[in-house]
Amino acid sequence: MSKPFIMDHPLIQHKLSVLRSTGTSSKEFRELVSEIAMLMCYEATRDLPLEETEIETPICKTKAQVLAGRKMAIVPILRAGLGMVDGMLALVPNARVGHIGMYRDPETHMPVEYYCKLPADIEERDVFVLDPMLATGGSAIDAIDQIKKYGATNVYFLCIIAAPEGLEALVEAHPDVKVYCAALDDHLNDHKYIVPGLGDAGDRIFGTK
Ligand code: PRP
Ligand code: URA
Repeated sequence: MSKPFIMDHPLIQHKLSVLRSTGTSSKEFRELVSEIAMLMCYEATRDLPLEETEIETPICKTKAQVLAGRKMAIVPILRAGLGMVDGMLALVPNARVGHIGMYRDPETHMPVEYYCKLPADIEERDVFVLDPMLATGGSAIDAIDQIKKYGATNVYFLCIIAAPEGLEALVEAHPDVKVYCAALDDHLNDHKYIVPGLGDAGDRIFGTK
């Protein structure tokens, strides 16, 4: 079973505390989600392979390291995952972007898929699935099922807050997926919201409540 990577960097933790607070406006919330995603991207891409090339500086020729040209895709789970896209693209501007639309049925809390559009060559890419919230894990598990059906084999899941229940379910369903989160919270409440969490991420990003 692969262990999740919890990003305890002080900048991420500080931004996360502001994000959680009810006093944070939608504008600030969006900015913070994007900034946290960028910091998470920096860490999650730490193992990307490098290769040696020769360049010429103004002084001389030298050998230098560049990314080994592996292709990347980022796949936000709609809606809230959209908030993490710009932060990722700030660091990996050439990544392709797929989309998976999911919402949780308000009664059963089970994910319902309503949209899926992935890059045609997804099987050749390292795929970074984005969603700020991992609650029961249902949405992440179904999204990754779908992405694997299209042939992807190297999948990362980046969330800002995870609940222990969702993390356990995700790791059991997809033990090969590398999971990164900024916080592992306490538990889920009766409505399957993360405690203490930050409320409904989609509503806070888009100001729909
Ligand atoms: C939220 C969140 C995740 C999901 C997590 O989306 O963005 O996709 O819930 O819950 P789970 O781990 O229990 O599946 P939501 O269903 O509220 O849809 P929205 O982003 O469209 O608001
Ligand atoms: N989805 C959210 O947006 N927040 C939660 O706490 C759980 C699911």
